[in-house]
Amino acid sequence: MTDRGVVEAGLLDCVSGVLKKASIDFVVFDKIEPNPTMPSVHEGADLYKSEKCDSIIALGGGSPMDAAKAIGVKATHEGDIIQYTRRGGKPVQDITPPLIAIPTTSGTGSEVTRFSVLTNPEEKIKMVIATPVITADVAIVDPALTRSMPPSITAFTGMDALTHAVESYISNKATTLTETLAIKAIELIGTNLRQAVANGENMEARSNMILASMMAGMAFANSSVGTVHAVAHALGGYFNIAHGVANALMLPYVMRYNLIACPEKFEDIAMALGENVNRLTEMEAALKSVESVEKLSGDIGVPKNLKQLGADPNRIEDLVSESEKQGAYNLSPRKPTRDATTQMFRDAFNA
Ligand SMILES: NC(=O)c1ccc[n+]([C@@H]2O[C@H](COP(=O)([O-])OP(=O)(O)OC[C@H]3O[C@@H](n4cnc5c(N)ncnc54)[C@H](O)[C@@H]3O)[C@@H](O)[C@H]2O)c1
Ligand SMILES: [Fe+2]
Repeated sequence: MTDRGVVEAGLLDCVSGVLKKASIDFVVFDKIEPNPTMPSVHEGADLYKSEKCDSIIALGGGSPMDAAKAIGVKATHEGDIIQYTRRGGKPVQDITPPLIAIPTTSGTGSEVTRFSVLTNPEEKIKMVIATPVITADVAIVDPALTRSMPPSITAFTGMDALTHAVESYISNKATTLTETLAIKAIELIGTNLRQAVANGENMEARSNMILASMMAGMAFANSSVGTVHAVAHALGGYFNIAHGVANALMLPYVMRYNLIACPEKFEDIAMALGENVNRLTEMEAALKSVESVEKLSGDIGVPKNLKQLGADPNRIEDLVSESEKQGAYNLSPRKPTRDATTQMFRDAFNA
């Protein structure tokens, strides 16, 4: 299970070559789109069944990995895949095929998470299947596969990983274990993302980024993401905006709102991002974390304004309503009010 961009980058050959050498039969499904949709999951599952497959290899970014998880569910369960999302409520049985996940972006951490994020193209909303049953059995995490990512995809996916780490670190469900993974991921991203964007051949930066992405994935899968992901999913569903860029743009607004809930944690984030917080008050130091994220976004070319991404400011009301329905909405340390979320979107449209 992969996508055209991954095939065009020559990465499929890395896997198919190994399979051919080992005389393992395989069939390729490469029609998964960014922000994968339910119809392509159904198509992939039909192919899986007609070819009598017995296991799945996902090769790509979060889109192919998430779609592959859902294809495994659809191929073994009755009815529409939508029923098995959180909103659908039907439980997934432990009968899904074995899954090997091979990430080619350093962003989602989907290779180690129990989530599959799908878009319902009719309603234009993102829905999540969340169950340990769909977690990959094996993850092959090799930085060489991320070398071909162009600077923009490196930047956006890297900011997704940073968002996972930050939201996990401040999450109400954080534990010592998830905090340890998250803060190290933040430090690795702060010291390697610019370099990976500037020079994709810098394999030390690439290695540290895929490591950070995986660690951030382990962190949020065991704590949670929060309001940034809720608003980013609303944007991704309505306007088909890439997940990483939606997160990157909204992250500073949500961080600023959460600042007073746990300034000591934001101070840690500022320090992990290399900010000097000596002689600052706790709140001043906490604010440095937001400024540091804004500097990073600026350096790597993240757009500043939601209009630049094709989002429509007349839909703010709908975006807020959809954000409120997302599972992650209330998991940040400061509960967002409707007014606060509206203001975050307004600010992001007027930046
Ligand atoms: N399951 C989870 O836990 C989780 C977490 C966060 C996000 N997501 C979901 O993951 C999806 C986003 O995944 P993504 O950000 O990794 O992007 P993606 O998988 O959508 O890929 C983006 C683009 O990059 C190209 N690409 C991928 N690897 C490449 C490489 N090595 N060289 C050249 N081009 C390459 C792809 O062809 C595609 O065009 C969204 O749907 C998001 O909601 C899932
Ligand atoms: Fe994400």
